[in-house]
Amino acid sequence: MSSSVSITLNQCSRTFAGGNTALQPLDLQVNAGETLVLLGPSGCGKTTTLRIISGLESPDQGGQVLFGSVISLRCRLRSATWEWCFKTTRSSPT
Ligand SMILES: Nc1ncnc2c1ncn2[C@@H]1O[C@H](COP(=O)(O)OP(=O)(O)OP(=O)(O)O)[C@@H](O)[C@H]1O
Ligand SMILES: [Mg+2]
Repeated sequence: MSSSVSITLNQCSRTFAGGNTALQPLDLQVNAGETLVLLGPSGCGKTTTLRIISGLESPDQGGQVLFGSVISLRCRLRSATWEWCFKTTRSSPT
């Protein structure tokens, strides 16, 4: 049996060392069961958005990702240094 939850991004931006802003502050709501396609020119931040949602990347301070009503672990552990290892096959952003 599968279940789905909504994904919410509140003011998620990403600026890398050196000041390169990969993603301007983004508010996004994907409802449970909904399919969303990200379209845009190269460099507009699609992959960065997916990496933030998947937990491979942290949003800048103030950004928040929620799965349902639960704040993502990556956001809660923002100050910690840790990496992610998938135990099963899954798609990853490119
Ligand atoms: N680790 C990084 N360090 C510095 N800049 C980065 C990093 N990752 C991405 N960027 C920059 O951030 C911007 C957004 O990159 P991103 O990969 O999210 O774009 P994209 O929309 O997925 O592009 P494409 O359609 O080419 O895949 C680009 O200017 C990119 O060069
Ligand atoms: Mg990309």
